[in-house]
Amino acid sequence: MFDLTKARADTPAGQNGIYLNNAGCSLMPRPVIEAVQDYFALEAGIGGFRAVTREAGAIAAVYASVAALINAKSDEIALMGSHTAAWQSVFYGLSFTEGDRILTSQSEYGANYVAFLQMRKRTGCVIDVIPCGGDGASDPVALDKMIDDRVKLIAINWIPTNGGLMNPAAEIGRVARAHGIPYLLDACQAVGQTPVDVEELGCDFLSATGRKWLRGPKGTGFLYVRQAGLASGRPEPAMIDDFGALWKKPDAYELVAGARRYETHENAPALRLGLGAAADYALALGLDRIRERVRRLAEGLRAELARMPGIAVHDLGAEHAGLVTFTHDAVAPGAIAQALEGEAIYVKVVPREGALLDSTARQLTQILRVSPHYFNAEEELETFLRALRKVTRA
Ligand SMILES: Cc1ncc(COP(=O)(O)O)c(C=O)c1O
Repeated sequence: MFDLTKARADTPAGQNGIYLNNAGCSLMPRPVIEAVQDYFALEAGIGGFRAVTREAGAIAAVYASVAALINAKSDEIALMGSHTAAWQSVFYGLSFTEGDRILTSQSEYGANYVAFLQMRKRTGCVIDVIPCGGDGASDPVALDKMIDDRVKLIAINWIPTNGGLMNPAAEIGRVARAHGIPYLLDACQAVGQTPVDVEELGCDFLSATGRKWLRGPKGTGFLYVRQAGLASGRPEPAMIDDFGALWKKPDAYELVAGARRYETHENAPALRLGLGAAADYALALGLDRIRERVRRLAEGLRAELARMPGIAVHDLGAEHAGLVTFTHDAVAPGAIAQALEGEAIYVKVVPREGALLDSTARQLTQILRVSPHYFNAEEELETFLRALRKVTRA
C-alpha cells in the first residue's frame, strides 16, 4: 500500500496548491530540504572549506546513493549542476568530422538538438533522425538498418519533455552495443519516476537532472559513464580542470580514474547532499511503487481528458510515462494554464521548441502538460479536472 498521507506530510509545498508540473520541477520532500538547510547552516557557522572537510563522508556517500538509483557503481557517477551540463560534457568531448553521423530521436529535446546543430556547423557532421514506428516511438529495427561506419553517436531521449512517450531505450541500447556505437541517453524525465538500470539500458552515458521526478534541489544533475569507457580514457570530458585531471608534470595531465573527471573543483555541497537525500528517499519508497502510482494517476487523467469535449490528448507511444499532454479546440493553452493558476493549480504550457521535430511533424504549437507525481492525491486530480471543465466551458 502506498502511504499517501506520509508522502503528503513530507511535502510542505504541496499544501500551497495543486502542483501538477513534476516533469518541470517537482517539490522537494522534507529530508531533501533539511539536508540542504542543515549544510548551509553548517557553512554559515564554520565556513565553506571546513564544512566540506567535516561532512566529507556524507558528501562521498551521495555517489553511492545516485549509483544505486540506476544500478551503477559509485565511480561511474559524476555530480553535475544540471542535466544539460552532464550531457554537454559528454557530447562536446566526442570528435566528429565531415560526414560523421549522429542518430537521434524525433522527440529530441531542444537543448540537445541545438548542440547537434552547432556540431554540424563546426564539423560538417550529419544529424539523422531515427524513424518512428506506428506508435510514434523511435523504432529500433529502423535504427539497425541505418547503421554504417559513419555513425559516431546514438543520442536519444528516453522520455521527452512534450508527452508520455517512452522510447524503447533498452532496445536501442542493444543496437548500439551490437555495433559498438557510443550511446548517450537523456534520462532527464525518467530518473525518479521509473526504475532505471544502466545494465539493461546498455548505454555508455546517461544524463539526468535532480529537480524533476527525483525531487532533488534545483541546480543538480548527474552523469553516468560506463566503466569500460573510463578505463579506455576515450572519450575525454569536453572540459577538464585540475580536479578531474591531475597536473603532475609541467607538460602533461592525467585524468582521474572515475567519472569524477567530468566534474570541476568548485561545487555546491549543500545541493549535492540534497540530491543524495532525494535519491535515498526515492529508493526507500521503491521505484517500482513510484512508477506504478505515477502511471495509475497519469492513465486516469488521460482517460478523463480523452472523454472531455473539445480536448485532444497528444501522448505518443504504446507505453506511457507520467506526462499527460493535451489541447482544447477553443481555449488556448496559455489561457487555460492562467485560469488554473488563479485557482492554485499548476500545470505547464510546453512550447513547440521543446521538441521541435516532433511538434513540427504533428503540427502542434503549444500544448498543456500535466505531470502528477506519487504525492498528488486523487482528489487533487479531480479538482483539476473540474476546474478544467469550467475553463473550457466558459
Ligand atoms: C527530455 C529533457 N531533456 C533535458 C532537459 C534539460 O534538463 P536541465 O534543465 O536540467 O538541463 C529537460 C528539461 O526539461 C528535458 O525534459
